[in-house]
Amino acid sequence: MKFNNLLVAGLVVAAGAAGYYYSESTNSSATTAPTSNDPSKGLSKPADTSPSGSEKPIIGPAGEVNKIEITVNAGESIQAAVKAAEPGTTINIMPGTYSETVYIDKDNIRLIGVIEQGKRATLDGLGKLNDAILYSGNNVVVENLHITRYKGNGIMGQAGNNFEIRNNVIVDTGIYGVFPQLGTNGVVEYNVISGIEDAAIYIGMSDNVHVAHNHVFDSVAGIEIENSRHAIVENNNVHNNTGGILAFVTPGLAIKTTYDVIIRNNFINDNNHDNFGAPGSIVAGIPPGTGILVMAADRVVIESNIITNNKTAGILIVDHGSAANVSDDPESEPNPDNVSVLDNVMLNNGYQTIPEIKGLMALELKYVEPDVVHVSEGSGSCIANRSRYKTVGVGDFADCDFDNTDKIITYLLDTPVAAREIAPSERGQIAYLGVCSGCHSYNGRLIGPSIQTIQALYFENPEGLAAYITKPIKKRDDYPEMPSQAYLGEETLQAVAEYVLSREN
Ligand code: HEC
Repeated sequence: MKFNNLLVAGLVVAAGAAGYYYSESTNSSATTAPTSNDPSKGLSKPADTSPSGSEKPIIGPAGEVNKIEITVNAGESIQAAVKAAEPGTTINIMPGTYSETVYIDKDNIRLIGVIEQGKRATLDGLGKLNDAILYSGNNVVVENLHITRYKGNGIMGQAGNNFEIRNNVIVDTGIYGVFPQLGTNGVVEYNVISGIEDAAIYIGMSDNVHVAHNHVFDSVAGIEIENSRHAIVENNNVHNNTGGILAFVTPGLAIKTTYDVIIRNNFINDNNHDNFGAPGSIVAGIPPGTGILVMAADRVVIESNIITNNKTAGILIVDHGSAANVSDDPESEPNPDNVSVLDNVMLNNGYQTIPEIKGLMALELKYVEPDVVHVSEGSGSCIANRSRYKTVGVGDFADCDFDNTDKIITYLLDTPVAAREIAPSERGQIAYLGVCSGCHSYNGRLIGPSIQTIQALYFENPEGLAAYITKPIKKRDDYPEMPSQAYLGEETLQAVAEYVLSREN
């Protein structure tokens, strides 16, 4: 049975064959989900089995540290420093307050806050600026900053590979805290993020990512792995969000799958915050009190987490049909398959669950406060030691035939992937995937209206569309403002306008 209002708000999305271009250029096949549960069986390269603490120097995904260094002092402009910097520069930012948006459109830039006596470089959007940091360069590092009072994104990656986002404090920055979109090979670690209206950490349409040691709280979604593959989420402390950790497929985005996600060794506690997501946004439908949500993602392993006091359920595993208003995407497989719930500590979850889950329990003549809830026609899932948990809907889960993911230390790649080369003919497409898809889907509402709506408004008028996104004006009362995209430059603005009007899914 389906329970339609489980995720009450609209799940939306745009789609496209365009995604295949990207996915084929990486080492994972984004279109077919693997069949076995054990994630080590699907590895395209042998897992790195070197013991931690070995002699190897630790080099992050962005590669070796830059030799050229420059310093930005309080009162100066970070953007001016980025503009002047050649690729391969480390920009040290002294403590002080900087009210600006920083665009990094070159490779190998490290933006490092200098912390003195606990004082950080603060990027303050004053409640007026949209984004703190947007990077489209590869091998970009953003570290040690304090970011607050922006309306859109704290740190957003737009098609940059080999990123490192580390040790930042991000408070009250609007829609997304840390949002690498369309990137391969990156880490998001040791960040403290709170007060975010959508996802504190949002890994979007990306591959080979590691999200670890972050402290994420008071947000709608804590950590979200969306339309992404080969991600490990470990050792995070995720509490007092509406939903703690989410792995899902948003139907209709250009990249159609989420798989090989390991969620392990996290604290996922008290995620009972009221849902303050923007109406119509994906996360606005998460029932408060959701510890982990798996929607339509495949090969997700949930292992050794401490999951307590989440009032709707500790772990919710659902298909697209369980969310209201999900736009149809025939290219997107709606079920969660091969999900493995291994040993976790689960206590006091589901104590005030939603009527839809109570309905499911009634069908099983079961009245429990559920740790694990499953609703879908997916196959191949398993649960270890099921008698430990209070469960609903897991009757068709097998007993797992493996009990840990210790062989998989990381999905990060051994060497940085090549910088993305964007041919002039691809500019519009990459900007659409890397920028617009964060807020627009083809046939449904995300943060902004659907591409279909936009196509109707700007039929055969790419110039008008380019003019709007250069200087958007507020049009709809029930939507936030659209941020200007002028930083993309005239040629890309025109190219993305034409591309948006040409999309068919
Ligand atoms: C941070 C989220 C966000 C991003 C990124 C974004 N948009 Fe929007 N967009 C919005 C919102 C919100 C609205 C609705 C604004 C309103 O009605 O006041 C909107 C509205 C629009 C409209 C409707 C204009 C009209 O006349 O009604 C167009 C066209 C558009 N966006 C194109 C784009 C394109 C192209 C991109 C990528 C280059 C893009 N947007 C990136 C959020 C975003």
